[in-house]
Amino acid sequence: MNSRPIGIFDSGVGGMTVLAEIAKELPNEDLIYLGDTKNFPYGDKSKENIIKISKKCVEFLISKNVKLIIIACGTATSQALEELRKEFTIPILGIISPTVDSIKKGVKESSKSIIGVIATEGTIRSNKWEQELKEKIEDITVINKACPLLAPMAEQGWTENKVAEETIKEYMSVFRDKNIDKLILGCTHYPLFKELIEKELGNDVEIINTGEKIAQYVTNYLNEQNTNNDKTNKADCKIYLTDTECNFINVVSILLKNSNIENKISKIDIEN
Ligand code: DGL
Repeated sequence: MNSRPIGIFDSGVGGMTVLAEIAKELPNEDLIYLGDTKNFPYGDKSKENIIKISKKCVEFLISKNVKLIIIACGTATSQALEELRKEFTIPILGIISPTVDSIKKGVKESSKSIIGVIATEGTIRSNKWEQELKEKIEDITVINKACPLLAPMAEQGWTENKVAEETIKEYMSVFRDKNIDKLILGCTHYPLFKELIEKELGNDVEIINTGEKIAQYVTNYLNEQNTNNDKTNKADCKIYLTDTECNFINVVSILLKNSNIENKISKIDIEN
């Protein structure tokens, strides 16, 4: 047993889609969330910058005595995970490998899968999703599409209005007539657009929310390591933001169906 909290970070509200899934799967685990709103968006920053910022996030979470860190961000996973693992001894999980492993389990041998990936510019530029998918699954075709407008729109809470509808329609047009069977939401802000994406692509395309996959992975991981919290623990969740919350409270209240979210938020400076 290990009663220390799990640390989770992202540039803003997106990683809360991962936190929500973890909270569902692991109701006894205390969670500490860091939303690095000061450095939002991560998606258009250089790899060097993402590594630098991610190190600060990890250091902050370590100072909160977490037992495990989840990078609830596709951009930081794709560009900083390797470096972070070299530098820190604490277990650090990203969103790419658990998702690819889970897809691999579901793919029938010798079936030719066509998988779409949508993510930030930085993630698509890194090519990490395509590399890992092709390394682990035979005979697959990957179609990548960067969707740089979606994370800023999600931060504003523009996930269901006319602008969101038109933007999703435009971004999804690359997948039209391509017969994709799955679409990976490679940025953790994108599950906030899931309904619009489903509407655009139809029911035959499986939409993959990385938060669900990482939550299942973390459940197995804690069981294997025997580092779960006590079953009687009623989980606590603390949220730290590095700058103003933008639309954080509204978005998160919907996501977690929790109107008390204000009381859980503190502002911090991770740079000094
Ligand atoms: N939610 C993040 C991701 O998964 C970051 C989006 C951004 O800050 O641009 O990539």
